Amino acid sequence: MSEAENQATSVLLPGSRVAVYSKDKKTLEAAQAVEKDWRFARVEIQSEDGDIETAIATYQDLPSPDLIIVQTETVDEDFTERLGGLAEHCGEGTAAIVIGPKNDVYLYRQLIEMGVSDYLVKPVQSEILADVIAKTVIERIGITGSRLIAFVGAKGGVGTSVIAQAMAWGVSETLGQKAMLLDGSGGWSTLGVGIGFEPSTTLPEAVRAAENQDEDSIARMLFTASEHLNILASGGDAMLEQVITPAQYENLLDMLMVKYPVVMVDLSASTPGLKNAVITRAHEVILVSTPTLPALRLARSLLHEMKEIRGDSEEGIEMIVNMQGMAPANEVPKADIEKAMELKPSAFIPFNPKLFIGSESEGKRLIDDKAGAALVSNSLLPVLKTVLAVDVEGIHVSEESSSSGIGGLIGKLAKK
Ligand SMILES: Nc1ncnc2c1ncn2[C@@H]1O[C@H](COP(=O)(O)OP(=O)(O)OP(=O)(O)O)[C@@H](O)[C@H]1O
Ligand SMILES: [Mg+2]
Repeated sequence: MSEAENQATSVLLPGSRVAVYSKDKKTLEAAQAVEKDWRFARVEIQSEDGDIETAIATYQDLPSPDLIIVQTETVDEDFTERLGGLAEHCGEGTAAIVIGPKNDVYLYRQLIEMGVSDYLVKPVQSEILADVIAKTVIERIGITGSRLIAFVGAKGGVGTSVIAQAMAWGVSETLGQKAMLLDGSGGWSTLGVGIGFEPSTTLPEAVRAAENQDEDSIARMLFTASEHLNILASGGDAMLEQVITPAQYENLLDMLMVKYPVVMVDLSASTPGLKNAVITRAHEVILVSTPTLPALRLARSLLHEMKEIRGDSEEGIEMIVNMQGMAPANEVPKADIEKAMELKPSAFIPFNPKLFIGSESEGKRLIDDKAGAALVSNSLLPVLKTVLAVDVEGIHVSEESSSSGIGGLIGKLAKK
């Protein structure tokens, strides 16, 4: 097995576009089924009821995708000529796969010589189609990693965990992206309460399984919160015992990042070493603070240290000011926060105990509440717009549909 074939079976594929042109209903169905494969979370598959002529016409005006799959009922000289015609309209990086009516070694060789990546004979099973697409995409683009998002609080109790959990629901349910949420705090974790599961493992157990590349044990340690959201069900640790080393935790992240497009880590109540390790390598760090002086002081110092360990750059660092309005007379005004932090906060979240503490106590997801869902769509998910390419307009909940009470307030806040 080639390295690309080897990797194709076990990794998350890079973001890419695949177009399928076929008049065969079975092929189109197989292509649609491929999209459900977890490896294809970032692969956009477009199936067209058409043939090589449709493809040629399409790419006369539009940029070609990374891979074009065309099905043909006749494989004669005319077809290979048309294939040459298609190549003229495609970018250099575009790969092609042909699906044909019969098994023919001579034809196979001829197509491969023309630069076609593979030739498949109909009917194609979706598993085979998935493997062939995966292999081709990896050969063309290589592997790019998943996104790692870290949540860190300026101090304890500022709401880092509830924000991480609300974001995790937003990413998985609202955006439909396959995500993993984990908590670095061992026995101090409140994730079980927030999401609603009994911790069934400890961080030392999880890192040991990762050290042994023991996928089965890792799988048993996961809590399936929903179709797209998995949680590492740690938290069974003793609270007063030394947890794991940062290197061990990174090892665990490496293993999870192969399978999950989005990996989110709640670092509130984690050790400084673990925070350092995860913040250093995260694609995005969400710094949570309240608008009060003690929290902002720490947020400012933390921001400086974070920039330092991230190569003197504030790229990929976003700040969320939480619990705005909890103590209005004693809060630092918005403009002053921005000036003092030298960073414009990406979101301001109102103090709303009914929503936050209410959902928490009832074991409800924030997104199941109308105002909570609007908050996630309009204020929280836009913070991830760069790192996850979120279509902010597409998920925005309009003010009209949540015009009463806090929903309306959130709508207004989001517009600022
Ligand atoms: N905007 C908000 N309005 C009202 N209550 C909130 C808000 N955000 C968080 N809370 C509540 O504040 C409490 C602390 O939140 P959370 O546990 O997420 O904080 P944390 O920063 O992770 O704390 P720790 O440092 O202990 O990990 C929770 O009860 C939560 O429901
Ligand atoms: Mg916490």
